[in-house]
Amino acid sequence: MKSFSNVIEPDFDQAFHNKSPLKGKWYTDVFKNDHPIVLELGCGKGEYTTGLAQTYPEKNFIGIDIKGARMWVGAGFADKLHLTNAVFLRTRIEFINSFFAENEVSEIWVTFPDPQPKKKRNRKRLTSSNFLNNYSRFLMPGGRIHLKTDSRFLHEYTREIVSLNQLPVHCSTRDLYGEKPTGTDDLLYSIQTHYESLFRAQGVPITYLSFSLKPNVMLIEPDDDQQEYLLKTFLPVEKD
Ligand SMILES: C[S@@+](CC[C@H](N)C(=O)[O-])C[C@H]1O[C@@H](n2cnc3c(N)ncnc32)[C@H](O)[C@@H]1O
Repeated sequence: MKSFSNVIEPDFDQAFHNKSPLKGKWYTDVFKNDHPIVLELGCGKGEYTTGLAQTYPEKNFIGIDIKGARMWVGAGFADKLHLTNAVFLRTRIEFINSFFAENEVSEIWVTFPDPQPKKKRNRKRLTSSNFLNNYSRFLMPGGRIHLKTDSRFLHEYTREIVSLNQLPVHCSTRDLYGEKPTGTDDLLYSIQTHYESLFRAQGVPITYLSFSLKPNVMLIEPDDDQQEYLLKTFLPVEKD
């Protein structure tokens, strides 16, 4: 990892104490252009980071994950292709506000995150109100969040947050490949992540939800009854 110029591994102090020198400086110091910045959260091997970077040279992409072994694959691939618009940031997403300033990010992909079904109100879910409130501090107004997941539970849970907080929805499907909703980007089908291919091979439908946040609105969680309903209704099909 150390040999890759496209990997940033901040130390704990930077992440924990909000001391990253990159915050507010990604355009000038990392990409050296003013192209829009797109994040892939829980990127694993970074299939969306590298796939989108090849298709959109006029945008910048940052894959974020805590696991180095997976990220190493994506970073190596980007290095081999000489992709100057794709980098990887190794950190816990809990610390994401240490790295990005207001309006610094234009779009976020969340690809096959762990659904974290163990507790009712789980702040570790990457689409919980807790995380979405964090993203709203650096996502541009109108910036889209894309959630691609095999987890029907996570899809419904996120839809519930979106509906409860009256957030704008751009696309929602419980079976992306079966329904092929009109207007969806071909890249939703042509770029498939490692986990996606595993779930597709098992015949699990892939869901997709695209939505935006509202500026200056603190999002709320579904109440306990609704959380319980979601867990009871959609969890039996989960493979943890
Ligand atoms: C199920 S894997 C999906 C990986 C990849 N997106 C894919 O679809 O193949 C979830 C990934 O999210 C990462 N992850 C989960 N929670 C995280 C967190 N709080 N901070 C950083 N990475 C996290 C894990 O390390 C793992 O690589």
